[in-house]
Amino acid sequence: MSRSQPTTYSSTQIAIHWIVAALVLFQIVFGESIKDLGRALRRGEAPDAMVSLMGNLHIWFGVAILVLTLVRVFLKVTRGAPPAPPGSALSLFAMKAVYALFYLLMLAAPVTGLAAWYLSVDVAGDIHEAMKPAFVLLIAIHVLAALWHRFVLKDDVMGRMLSSRP
Ligand code: HEM
Repeated sequence: MSRSQPTTYSSTQIAIHWIVAALVLFQIVFGESIKDLGRALRRGEAPDAMVSLMGNLHIWFGVAILVLTLVRVFLKVTRGAPPAPPGSALSLFAMKAVYALFYLLMLAAPVTGLAAWYLSVDVAGDIHEAMKPAFVLLIAIHVLAALWHRFVLKDDVMGRMLSSRP
């Protein structure tokens, strides 16, 4: 029996979207703290309390992003997502490409970060750092697109990520 496509995101999908968005923004803004923590530990120094707190939050928030993204992918596969909003073939392609890259980064950023921190894989650390500008670029495109829908097209695309009601 084929599963019918939902007309809205579920409240769980909406909650995960905003929690992960907040966690990713935190990682982008305060991510440098993990470098300070690593430097202090390599030198055998006791890290400053704030550096230690922010560095550990970077690790735990990264793990949370990974777990929540796996749940999100599971929900997308099993429950589905509402159909794409109407638009040109090009805008549809751009939207799908941005979402696919977001999912790739949300999985690869924590995995490479964990490999660099716990397994000392240097190349993983380099890839992890290169993901920051990629995230910033994607978020800028994504937020501009959401604002375009809200204030220029004046459609309900923003509302789809705010309420699970049809
Ligand atoms: C203020 C910031 C943000 C706004 C206003 C926003 C808005 C939205 C909206 C309105 C949608 C639904 C589009 C639709 O119905 O097709 C959406 C989907 C999505 N957003 Fe965001 N978003 C923000 C931040 C983020 C961030 C930081 C990430 C990634 C870390 C992200 C990742 C995604 C993904 C992957 C989807 C697609 C969901 C799916 O169908 O699988 N968003 N966003």
